[in-house]
Amino acid sequence: MFNPQLDEDGKLKHLLSIEGLPKQILHQILDTADSFAGVAEREVKKVPLLRGKTVCNIFFENSTRTRTTFEIAAKRLSADVINLNVGTSSQSKGETILDTVENLTAMHTDIFVVRHAESGAAHLIARHVQPHVHVINAGDGRHAHPTQGLLDVYTIRRHKPDMHNLKVALVGDVLHSRVARSEIHALTTLGVPEVRVIAPKTLLPEHVEKLGVQVYHDMREGLKGVDVVMMLRLQNERMTGSLLPSAQEYFKCFGLTQEKLALAKPDAIVMHPGPMNRGVEIDSSVADGSQSVILPQVTYGIAVRMAVMSILAGNG
Ligand code: CP
Repeated sequence: MFNPQLDEDGKLKHLLSIEGLPKQILHQILDTADSFAGVAEREVKKVPLLRGKTVCNIFFENSTRTRTTFEIAAKRLSADVINLNVGTSSQSKGETILDTVENLTAMHTDIFVVRHAESGAAHLIARHVQPHVHVINAGDGRHAHPTQGLLDVYTIRRHKPDMHNLKVALVGDVLHSRVARSEIHALTTLGVPEVRVIAPKTLLPEHVEKLGVQVYHDMREGLKGVDVVMMLRLQNERMTGSLLPSAQEYFKCFGLTQEKLALAKPDAIVMHPGPMNRGVEIDSSVADGSQSVILPQVTYGIAVRMAVMSILAGNG
């Protein structure tokens, strides 16, 4: 079957979603990230792999972690980096996204990193760019956030190397979460045997169990014996209608507290892709506690994004 992410030799050409990527490509990205993790410890935090290449970040939605770590990653690879300010760009005069990309390609951009509120935006661009240009999806609507999924499994692998013996729980707003979708595909592709989703019925997609996950509506039941607790942000900006009684009620049933975390394994790690709603999906004592790897996730994001860009450029 045609896969727009792979070239005719089966190598990564664009990174649009984890779904459909073979396990060996996920391992290639994670292993390459391992080789970049030490660059941050060096006095000169640079390698020359993308020297002469230009990376353009186009973010139609706000971002702190993703945009910044892509910029740092590209600079550590010695690329030239452009951050298009969409708000002051000619988008406001009606220029189409494809015309914008074509014009930036005329300025010799090699890699586009795109975030957009519409699912499929990065796919659309990837279908239209010139053959030497690569597209990375930095989040499209509710659909996918593949580098977040990758940095999450990278974080898990760093802390729990035996991925074939893990229980992972994703808790919260799975319905609106592109992160959850990418993470579920990454975990199941890498052979994690038990992936649980814990959420109220109103925050789960229909037929979510078809993704190979176990569904729990009782957080205390779902957290029993897990190795990893991944909390998800309540995405109020994507909700239409009233899906929840109140933030307080949500926290009572699905917020992660020390008391609920005690049901997981004693050495369980706590993750969150950010930005966090403290006191809504996670208590500050847990977010800032000894089991939290929330800030290391951000740091690992640089190595993972370096890996993705260097693999794409190498395959080009
Ligand atoms: N996790 C994540 O995508 O964060 P930002 O929205 O800050 O990029």
